[in-house]
Amino acid sequence: MSITSFHDERGLPARSKITTLTIQEKKNGHQPITCLTAYDYATSRLVDEAGIDMVLVGDSLAQVVLGYDNTLPVTMEEMLHHTRAVRRAVKSALLIADMPFASYHIEPKEGVRNALRFVKEAGAEAVKLEGGEKRVDLVKRVLDAEVPVMGHIGLTPQSVHKMGGYKVQGKDLGGIERLIKDAIALDRAGVFSIVLEGLPREVAAMITREVSAATIGIGAGPECDGQVLVFHDILNLTFTPPAKFVRRYGDAAALISKAVEQFRADVESGSYPSDEESYHLPQETKEALDAILARKQMRKMAVGK
Ligand code: KIV
Repeated sequence: MSITSFHDERGLPARSKITTLTIQEKKNGHQPITCLTAYDYATSRLVDEAGIDMVLVGDSLAQVVLGYDNTLPVTMEEMLHHTRAVRRAVKSALLIADMPFASYHIEPKEGVRNALRFVKEAGAEAVKLEGGEKRVDLVKRVLDAEVPVMGHIGLTPQSVHKMGGYKVQGKDLGGIERLIKDAIALDRAGVFSIVLEGLPREVAAMITREVSAATIGIGAGPECDGQVLVFHDILNLTFTPPAKFVRRYGDAAALISKAVEQFRADVESGSYPSDEESYHLPQETKEALDAILARKQMRKMAVGK
């Protein structure tokens, strides 16, 4: 953006850069915070241009883009590859990369190194990692390495086997106490925000009041400071029945199927490509070529006599 222009280089109204400070200000000013996942250049560009505050390159990449059954198989290299693509598109939103399963579970040093790789090699501005109290040491080390951290508690998909499936968390008093402890521990460690996934809204509301970090809900009710959804969920691109909390804002599956079927029909019927959709020779070249072909034809006829 030029200093004199109210539009960016794409001709869009200029939007200021969202940082972790903006997120904090939004929480303090009771302004709802928006977040969507994205995994590639085209869709993250649209998400950014639509004015979403935070773009999360989620490890849900494993399921919605790579076709795995859960988030566990996705690797650091795959997450870096997609974060780089999103980085090229996102100009205004805060870009957060999700640390994949086993990239921070073994050695704290390895966790810090992997967090730094997202910033240095892929241009992320923050990382997200799952878990509460047990991650406090790691969160502090990552913050010491100057990388902002988003926490994630409640239904944490990387713990699918330990949880015995994808189950709403915090439904009994013991569970509520654990979640509140987790949220407070992460908040004290210095995370700038916490994803609250799959919790009763009453519990998410209590946590939101309790912590200074911005709470970003997914299946955690409306009292959170902001909301995140998976891009493919809101556009019917997941091939599975949506969870209760998903609201569909469009039907990209229907749109894509219709377009692809029409393309196939047009090619098969010969209506694509038309003359208008074809390149043409310059008139001069065409005339010269026609003359050559005509001479060849005459020679053929003369030999045939
Ligand atoms: O990976 C992901 O998409 C996430 C969001 C659902 C918060 O972690």
